[in-house]
Amino acid sequence: MHSRRALLYMPGDDWKKITKSITLGVDSICMDMEDGTAVNKKAEARAAIAKALQELDFGKSEKLARINSVGSGLEKEDIRAVLPYHPDGIVIPKLEELSQIQWASEIIEAAELSHGWPVNSIRVLVGIETAKGILNLKEIASHPRLDALIFGSEDYAASIGATRTKEANELIYARLATLNAAAAYGLQAVDLVTIEFKNAEFVREQALTGARLGFSGKQIIHPNQVEPVQSAFTPNDEEITHAKRIVETFEASQAKGAGAYALDGKMIDMPLVKNAQKVLERAKAAGKI
Ligand code: COA
Ligand code: MG
Repeated sequence: MHSRRALLYMPGDDWKKITKSITLGVDSICMDMEDGTAVNKKAEARAAIAKALQELDFGKSEKLARINSVGSGLEKEDIRAVLPYHPDGIVIPKLEELSQIQWASEIIEAAELSHGWPVNSIRVLVGIETAKGILNLKEIASHPRLDALIFGSEDYAASIGATRTKEANELIYARLATLNAAAAYGLQAVDLVTIEFKNAEFVREQALTGARLGFSGKQIIHPNQVEPVQSAFTPNDEEITHAKRIVETFEASQAKGAGAYALDGKMIDMPLVKNAQKVLERAKAAGKI
């Protein structure tokens, strides 16, 4: 699965931001036809995204296109405009029912077959950002074309009538429900956007909070957010050394016939080893080991 520590959006009709995005070393680039694009600019966004997919070299960055929600009346034209140029994935916002992913997946599969591309080579990521989306997570997360669940905090708050606060208590249930559903199905979980894009320290703090909760990455909206977010989702040297030590000492302890043992005054057993392995997987995905 492509690493998505940071997933950067830009309005699909903004050619300048699209060309800027490919210079930033960001894991994932999401050209938006939904709410980042004005209602009277949807056609321009479709055309610009199609052009970008054909003409620009995205290097190691993933190229995603976000369509309008299924049922908006715009989704069909959106997906048809970009599929012929093989984006790495389609992002569907405000996903509420499994049938909406099935709709997209059928269209995508038809495009893959007609172009002779491997089936399932174009992935789907979905925005979970409404009360109904949260209720139906169990079904939604089971779709085989899915790579990630993306938690949309502002839309979710609007859908339940909550006031957004810095502490984000109003989001706890939905944010963790999304994370849990992703973990249950082996999907990535992409955390909320921090809209205060001028404050790099604040976004770093918020990204670290998301990483500690268990998210694999975070949505971002500005070039300033790339570095703080990608580093927050990359284990640091100390964490990597500690994780390696746990894995090594565990193997030695197992060989001696002890399931649990002591390391630096703490008990180590299987769950801690699994967590250490996750840290090493993340470090590997980020190219650090
Ligand atoms: N992607 C790529 N480049 C971006 C960018 C983005 N999301 N946001 C800003 N930039 C570029 C600007 O074009 C500018 O480039 P330049 O220095 O070469 O001229 C530079 O970064 C600095 O931008 P800045 O002036 O600080 O921001 P702004 O006032 O132009 O834009 C926003 C602020 C919030 C409107 C803008 O960041 C944005 O459009 N973000 C994405 C919004 C979106 O897609 N929302 C939907 C999903 S939640
Ligand atoms: Mg949204």
